[in-house]
Amino acid sequence: MAEQMATLGAEWLPSEPLSGHTWLGVGGPADCVRIHDPLRMTEILDYLARQEVRWRFLGGGTNLLVVDEGVRDVVLCWGGESAAHPGLRFDGNRVEVAAGTNLGRTVTECAKRNLGGMEGLIGVPGTVGGALRMNAGAYGTQIGDRVRSLAILHGATGQVETAAIEEVHFEYRHTSFAPDDILLSAVLELPECPYAQIVERIKECNQKRRASQPVNERSAGCIFKNPPGHSAGRMIDELGLKGTRLGGAVISELHGNFIVNRYGATAADVLGLMDMIRERVSKTCKVELEEEVIVWRN
Ligand code: EPU
Repeated sequence: MAEQMATLGAEWLPSEPLSGHTWLGVGGPADCVRIHDPLRMTEILDYLARQEVRWRFLGGGTNLLVVDEGVRDVVLCWGGESAAHPGLRFDGNRVEVAAGTNLGRTVTECAKRNLGGMEGLIGVPGTVGGALRMNAGAYGTQIGDRVRSLAILHGATGQVETAAIEEVHFEYRHTSFAPDDILLSAVLELPECPYAQIVERIKECNQKRRASQPVNERSAGCIFKNPPGHSAGRMIDELGLKGTRLGGAVISELHGNFIVNRYGATAADVLGLMDMIRERVSKTCKVELEEEVIVWRN
């Protein structure tokens, strides 16, 4: 496999601990393929299909919880940007962004060109591809609102399609992409705005986030979606659950909807806290919480 992947511009990483690929820092091993040339993705998928190898795609790993056993599927991930495939291409008030580009860098590079409308997303870790798939949002900005078109590789057929925004549904932390769709790039259209104003808003959002979210600890972002009309974090807070520890995982004292890996947690510790929260919220508040974090099980 290593040789074959090398000829396809990719790297074979056998039994790679996925804890090192997720922000939460938990999760067992999987065989990984690091892709350095996105244009060869179709060939790579074709090869894996012929070998009858099942795969999953890993983005920035910021909203992901991998179980302690790891996963049997091969895990595909992007290598870094390269000169041949730069992350961002500007054209007036539009920018084409490669899916593997860091989201924060995208926000600041746009700002430097007097393009705003992405400020709320500053401080949301991860890649543009991951943000698009989950329709990441914060402080009034949802990335889906800025998209004009997308290049999607359909995993099932290996075909690349350019989808106009009208063909994709972006909802609250949910999109209409199929599980085996791989996002390759997106064209965003952004409002023009003076750099100084954008920077001011970026500072504001950063301050709010630092005051209310555990940005310096390992987490997977908000664990549960906000149920309509409720804040999951506030409910968990009102139930007095902040600070609860299970093994190495703790419900953040700063924000109830974050579980942090403070003392070398396992995935089982985090999943245990999630079950406990769900049960308490269901029993006391009569609300069923839905996971926002993506959980990879076998
Ligand atoms: N609150 C508490 N206690 C807590 C947490 C929150 O009382 O422990 C209260 C806050 O004081 C506020 C209300 O609950 O009055 C809402 O809290 P906040 O503004 O922090 O927003 P949120 O609903 O908890 C959402 C997103 C975040 C996003 C922020 C800022 C979800 C699940 N969460 O949090 O997104 O950063 O708004 O826009 O939609 C994420 O998706 O991973 C995420 C972190």
